[in-house]
Amino acid sequence: MTIPAALLARLAAATRWTVLTGAGVSQESGVPTFRDAQTGLWARYRVEELATPEAFRQQPRLVWEWYAWRRELVAAAKPNPAHVALAQLEARVPHFRLVTQNVDGLHQRAGSRRVIELHGNITRTKCFAEDVPVATWPETGEVPPRCPRCGGPLRPDVVWFGELLPPAELEEAWQASTTCEVFLSVGTSTVVYPAAALPSEALRSGATVVEVNPTPTPFTDQAHYVLAGPAGVVLPELLARLWT
Ligand code: OAD
Repeated sequence: MTIPAALLARLAAATRWTVLTGAGVSQESGVPTFRDAQTGLWARYRVEELATPEAFRQQPRLVWEWYAWRRELVAAAKPNPAHVALAQLEARVPHFRLVTQNVDGLHQRAGSRRVIELHGNITRTKCFAEDVPVATWPETGEVPPRCPRCGGPLRPDVVWFGELLPPAELEEAWQASTTCEVFLSVGTSTVVYPAAALPSEALRSGATVVEVNPTPTPFTDQAHYVLAGPAGVVLPELLARLWT
């Protein structure tokens, strides 16, 4: 992996980094990305057909079980060298912000302490009716389980299509993207807004923008630098070149 000397110099001098991650950063942990073919039982469904409030209203059991399947997948997954490298970056860079679209919690499991989760977290559950977190509920065997307070159905605490992103996280991500010196866009197809606007916002704000992705995206042509490889190879290489 050749990393341009000019980029290394820029990164070494920068004290304010923001990194945006997508499903590609968990791909090497065995967690399927969204726009690659889905494996197994769910191959016949499109994410857009399952991850919506309408789908949940119409088929609550199916949607709950799809997320239960993804929760098991994620629980069995391990953070990969990309997640570890990002946790190490957080420890080394004075002002480091990690913004993720992922809901798998692997950044936290790799040691990242501050993670801005734009799309929620699959390991958290909330009441569909009250929209408040629910940590425990009586196991009655009913699927989906019911809110112990209001009796409404429980749902995963993730952002579904057509839903607003959590305002505090979105504002923090916006700030992090418009005040950084360097912005890394890692493992995202850059097609789902508003997250997909963050790399362009960083560019507009004068940051040096780097895309880390083995495949071109709609943003590739705008990036100052493109490191075309898997995040689990590129990010550890980047750290090795900067700090050894
Ligand atoms: P996608 O599945 O759309 O894109 C994954 C990206 O990761 C692609 O650009 C791949 O080329 C790249 N990729 C694959 N393997 C990689 C690797 N080893 N290292 C680096 N990159 C790799 O996933 P996202 O961009 O995260 O939203 O999707 C954005 C949002 O769309 C998700 O958060 C989710 C989805 O619908 C909601 O559910 C609201």
